[in-house]
Amino acid sequence: MSDSRRQVDISLVVNGESHKLRAYPMERLLDVLRRQLGLTGVKEGCGEGECGSCSVLMDGVLVNSCLVAILQADGTSIITIEGLAMGSQLHALQQSFLDCGGAQCGICTPGIIMAAHYLLNKKPRPTLDDIREGLAGNLCRCTGYAQICEAVSEAAVREDTKRDSASPGNER
Ligand code: FES
Ligand code: FES
Repeated sequence: MSDSRRQVDISLVVNGESHKLRAYPMERLLDVLRRQLGLTGVKEGCGEGECGSCSVLMDGVLVNSCLVAILQADGTSIITIEGLAMGSQLHALQQSFLDCGGAQCGICTPGIIMAAHYLLNKKPRPTLDDIREGLAGNLCRCTGYAQICEAVSEAAVREDTKRDSASPGNER
């Protein structure tokens, strides 16, 4: 068992890049991502697993990074909001949030986009109910959710269109 007062070696792959770092075993993944790796797109809202602002993917599963001790994350692969865009090309979800007014103060937005990304990976053509259910763990104090759901739905349609035009037989 590790001594919680001593730092331990941790290996993480974050947004495709390998990192070796030292941290106290019970340090929160949220803090390591923000403070050690400078990934401040990961936001802290409640710090208690209630709001979803700190959502990231850990080995492909959506987690609240405020509830994950860094020792639990050792050896995993993490995707944060910073890992979605391709260079200067925004991810479809980021673009649709901009286009549909899905973000206001923006504190909830990275977590909501990560939850939506997780949903669309599982269900590329979600219904409105699927979207509501997929985002049920994420709270927003500003938007009233309508534009958020619209943005997720719009991103799903855009991705679908992209897939269709890229599929064999649809080349011009
Ligand atoms: S900050 Fe992690 S769930 Fe609210
Ligand atoms: S945009 Fe402000 S909390 Fe969601």
